[in-house]
Amino acid sequence: MKGSPMPQCCINPSILSADFVNLEAELQRISNADAVHVDVMDNHFVPNLTLGLPVVQRIQAVSPVPLDAHLMISDADRWAPGFADAGLASVTFHAEASIAPVKLARELRARGSKAGMALRPATAVEPYLDMLEELDMLLIMTVEPGFGGQAFLDLTLPKIRRARAAIDGSGLEVALQVDGGITEETILRAAEAGANVFVAGSAVYGAQDPGAAISRLREAGSLTLRSKSGE
Ligand code: DX5
Ligand code: ZN
Repeated sequence: MKGSPMPQCCINPSILSADFVNLEAELQRISNADAVHVDVMDNHFVPNLTLGLPVVQRIQAVSPVPLDAHLMISDADRWAPGFADAGLASVTFHAEASIAPVKLARELRARGSKAGMALRPATAVEPYLDMLEELDMLLIMTVEPGFGGQAFLDLTLPKIRRARAAIDGSGLEVALQVDGGITEETILRAAEAGANVFVAGSAVYGAQDPGAAISRLREAGSLTLRSKSGE
């Protein structure tokens, strides 16, 4: 839509598809990324278990790019602030896992992190639109959270469009992130619908050259965002 400034296209690779034994080297392979997406799972909010705060802190210490933590954990109100205290650039909690999302978003910002909130594919965005000003990023999951390598859910595209319209209408600078099944093909549809921050796990770490995969994704995303804004 013309009139709104073009949002910046960001590519945030997910280390869920990286070699966990060689994380430091795996992080160096994505040094041209905008941020590294760190998936924290508790085997409760999602049926999978990854890593917790101590490992995230070590990743933070060696990462060449800022951290974008995606907390797929229950009782986010209790646990998310600790990730902001660790100095992470951005902390995203799930709306479905928070009793008091406004309070939590404020707490994350007060501790110096950007505040992100995520929605599962079947969670409507409308009940949360009045709290956009409390957020730096809205994450619309494009697969059911829990595992990498799943297929992009096209049923999320109308929600991405509605979220983009609300963000542009508000005049706020809220990043719109999508996560799950992002490839050089699906990024075109997600960007066209209005997303501007793209998480990609298998499409980056499954490639021969992750750095080149990031560049290709960025090219595809930017091109679509530019043509949308009429530039
Ligand atoms: C899924 C995670 C994603 C996942 C993305 O629950 O939140 O970040 O790692 O992986 P791909 O890009 O393979 O779908
Ligand atoms: Zn994620």
